[in-house]
Amino acid sequence: MRFMNVPHLCALTLFYAVTLSRLVGIPTVPYTSSSDEGGFYSLAALKSLVVDSAYTESRDEDGETLIPPTLQEFAATFVDDLYSTLALNVSVSVADKAPENSVFLTLGNSSEYTDASGTQTSEGYTLSVSSSGITISGASALGAWWGTRTVLQQGVLLNGSIPYGEGMDVPGWRTRGMMLDAGRHYYPPEFIVEMCSYMSFFKQNTFQLHLSDNLYNNVDIYSTERSLSLYARFRLWSDSDDVAGLNQHQNESYTRQQFEDIQSACVARGVTILPEIEAPGHALVIVQWKPEIGLSDDLSLLNISHPDTIPTMKVIWGTFMDWFHSKTIHIGADEYTANASGYNRFVNEMADFVSETGGKSTRIWGTFPPKPEYDNIDTGVSVQHWEFFEDNPLFDYILNNYSVVNSDDTFYTVNKWSGSYPQTVNISRSFNGNPATSGIWQPFVLDTKNSTNNPERSNPLVLGSVVPLWNDYGANASVYSEAYYALKDGIPALGDKQWGGDLSEAEFTTSFSKLGSSVPGQNLDRAIPSSSSTIFNYSSGSCVSARSFSAHALRTETVLMDQSGNAYDATTDCSLTSEATLAIASCSLKTPLSSKGRDYTLSLKIRVGKLSSGDATIISGADSALMLTPNLTFSASGNYYRLNSTMPTGSWINLSVVGRGNQTFASVQPTTLEDPLPEPGSTAATEEEFLAVLGINGEYFVWAPIAIEAPISQLGGKGSGWTGELAAMSLSSLA
Ligand SMILES: *[C@@H]1O[C@H](CO)[C@@H](O)[C@H](O)[C@H]1NC(C)=O
Ligand SMILES: *[C@@H]1O[C@H](CO)[C@@H](O)[C@H](O)[C@H]1NC(C)=O
Ligand SMILES: *[C@@H]1O[C@H](CO)[C@@H](O)[C@H](O)[C@H]1NC(C)=O
Ligand SMILES: *[C@@H]1O[C@H](CO)[C@@H](O)[C@H](O)[C@H]1NC(C)=O
Ligand SMILES: *[C@@H]1O[C@H](CO)[C@@H](O)[C@H](O)[C@H]1NC(C)=O
Ligand SMILES: *[C@@H]1O[C@H](CO)[C@@H](O)[C@H](O)[C@H]1NC(C)=O
Ligand SMILES: *[C@@H]1O[C@H](CO)[C@@H](O)[C@H](O)[C@H]1NC(C)=O
Ligand SMILES: *[C@@H]1O[C@H](CO)[C@@H](O)[C@H](O)[C@H]1NC(C)=O
Ligand SMILES: *[C@@H]1O[C@H](CO)[C@@H](O)[C@H](O)[C@H]1NC(C)=O
Ligand SMILES: *[C@@H]1O[C@H](CO)[C@@H](O)[C@H](O)[C@H]1NC(C)=O
Ligand SMILES: *[C@@H]1O[C@H](CO)[C@@H](O)[C@H](O)[C@H]1NC(C)=O
Ligand SMILES: *[C@@H]1O[C@H](CO)[C@@H](O)[C@H](O)[C@H]1NC(C)=O
Repeated sequence: MRFMNVPHLCALTLFYAVTLSRLVGIPTVPYTSSSDEGGFYSLAALKSLVVDSAYTESRDEDGETLIPPTLQEFAATFVDDLYSTLALNVSVSVADKAPENSVFLTLGNSSEYTDASGTQTSEGYTLSVSSSGITISGASALGAWWGTRTVLQQGVLLNGSIPYGEGMDVPGWRTRGMMLDAGRHYYPPEFIVEMCSYMSFFKQNTFQLHLSDNLYNNVDIYSTERSLSLYARFRLWSDSDDVAGLNQHQNESYTRQQFEDIQSACVARGVTILPEIEAPGHALVIVQWKPEIGLSDDLSLLNISHPDTIPTMKVIWGTFMDWFHSKTIHIGADEYTANASGYNRFVNEMADFVSETGGKSTRIWGTFPPKPEYDNIDTGVSVQHWEFFEDNPLFDYILNNYSVVNSDDTFYTVNKWSGSYPQTVNISRSFNGNPATSGIWQPFVLDTKNSTNNPERSNPLVLGSVVPLWNDYGANASVYSEAYYALKDGIPALGDKQWGGDLSEAEFTTSFSKLGSSVPGQNLDRAIPSSSSTIFNYSSGSCVSARSFSAHALRTETVLMDQSGNAYDATTDCSLTSEATLAIASCSLKTPLSSKGRDYTLSLKIRVGKLSSGDATIISGADSALMLTPNLTFSASGNYYRLNSTMPTGSWINLSVVGRGNQTFASVQPTTLEDPLPEPGSTAATEEEFLAVLGINGEYFVWAPIAIEAPISQLGGKGSGWTGELAAMSLSSLA
């Protein structure tokens, strides 16, 4: 408070010199605004992004990835983000000092950046803002990258004006992220990459992919045959003869190239993919391949005493080791209920193999804590704690020198339905509900209720936190994007605390309401820019005649003008009938769009003439297809969701498909060619809901809502299995 020395200015300066101690963002950023200068830097003044010529090729070698991007590569991604998030068009260049009105990316003294345990971290950065521009100085290229997230976030939150000042910002923990159960549900590579982009914006750096698993093997009621045909998957696809037969589902797998692409796209935004292959528990897919190595009383568990078991797991890991570019891999080792000494031998042999053949470290789920009577697990194996009935991570692991990742089930989420866990991350627990520290949660809080079970915040053996989303009830319970919606609030709320931030729940709500729709590198909401609630509106008659196409043009390609004002004009190779409707017969209508997420009403005035297939596709898009099977049916994420009704053929129908929150409906109403399409929500037609049917451990069924994106790319087309006419089609964001 240097103004205090100037008595006559005291009253004024006390007021003026109130400095910020942090920037509210997700996570929060320690920051001191310059009280002498005052004022804000307007991002609109930015002319360039300049990479310090001394460090263009510099990479972070200390993080979890073996393929770290250079500072120059991070700069190229950042410049795209400035455009997509803040509509700033700046050029990237290289220089040895910062020109006026630039963001200057450089590196600083890396030993100045230490985490919660006082250990040096490469992920810190210093942000300096003055009237001449912005400097981000990273402890490494990765640290600088996290600084760019701060600039983007503040640009959104403060409407393009960042207060002059400086802050040094360092993550408290090195492992910060989420886990996706991609074993019991397939997710396409693009979805995983979009999730990485989303996580990265909130400074998470780890995405654990659980790549093999099975539905619960209910040995009380399943026969051996039923166990051997139960849903069980291994998601990596190799052509190697060594693993021929392990994976029988090529279309729901990742090839080596796809896995390379996922890893490099994620790490381009600072997120490392941490691969997990589960054994010796949750290993039914391996037993379905080699039944002799299953435990006879529960085929989802491997029999470690069998002489082929460990060799089989070494063949699997040997096949895929080179695919992985993380320094640590995860061998699962969760919920094994047979012999602990065999389990320990399994883990140690596999960890040695992973180290010798891949030069990598091994992680396991906390299952059998060390005991004096066993040969215990090597302390070089890190442990992912998830439940106190399995282990007490402080006393069992940390005090015995094991490193621990906090995945306590405080934050567990199970997609769509569960008898025990919530369906979306319970974020209120990250802000309060934590008696052990009478306040917020951070990764060192292993036990939210009993502080005796928690180490000091500075304990270096707490590596961080990874929060899982499980698909206990299988692939048909949800569409891909529902995994995102389950984590949508959780990722930013946890991202703040995993970094070491201290957002209050009220600050989170306000900040996230602005930041949530500004995350670059993804469009998981499948949002479509629109000047009003009407996103497109095509009516075949009016717009074609307005354009007075020649007969010749009509036979080739016709433009259907979008009457919404958004200019999402469609094209068609279908011909016009004498009533100026589109005749759909081996031809299609194509829009420039592909998919619309929550909320929407898709309305079609349609007359289906003939179904030539039991699987006719009316309209399709990137995430879904609406079909007549002949019941009205959605195909999405590899599954069918059918209504108990169909659509009459031969007469004009208003067909509405409505995505309302986490539910999806359709209604069918007779109409005439003259009547206009009804406004969204105005019809009296009865809606029927599309439902997912979840089998619960072979015991009973649960019907649950399903939230399917609107398919809006192509209507009809060769091989679509139907002929008919279309008079109008519109899409609204009202539901
Ligand atoms: C950005 O500005 C440059 C130069 O003015 C221009 O050539 C380029 O098209 C602009 N890029 C975008 C994405 O608007
Ligand atoms: C880097 O920072 C460390 C720790 O603050 C300090 O001891 C060292 O002198 C610094 N090195 C340089 C070159 O400034
Ligand atoms: C945000 O900034 C823009 C231009 O920089 C200005 O037009 C707009 O009024 C500002 N909005 C708010 C809410 O301050
Ligand atoms: C495990 O394998 C061993 C060796 O083949 C065999 O003797 C034993 O019966 C198996 N145990 C179970 C429970 O399947
Ligand atoms: C437990 O596993 C060890 C190591 O595989 C084996 O030697 C032992 O026989 C097993 N004990 C039982 C009771 O299965
Ligand atoms: C843990 O490691 C430290 C340092 O290597 C060592 O001094 C200590 O004895 C170890 N503690 C246990 C319980 O193994
Ligand atoms: C669906 O949304 C409603 C309303 O927001 C919510 O109460 C319900 O828990 C959600 N269901 C699932 C399965 O997420
Ligand atoms: C979220 O956690 C809080 C605090 O533990 C609890 O009171 C609340 O019931 C939980 N909400 C849900 C939906 O589980
Ligand atoms: C808290 O944890 C300690 C250490 O595990 C234990 O001894 C104590 O009984 C626990 N207290 C309660 C109230 O559960
Ligand atoms: C993969 O193929 C199976 C069998 O044909 C099919 O049921 C499933 O829907 C396909 N999955 C996807 C994601 O298309
Ligand atoms: C279809 O009918 C069956 C039997 O009445 C019912 O259980 C099911 O919920 C219905 N399906 C839908 C999607 O409404
Ligand atoms: C199709 O709908 C009828 C009722 O119209 C229903 O009885 C039948 O079960 C449905 N078929 C399927 C496969 O859902």
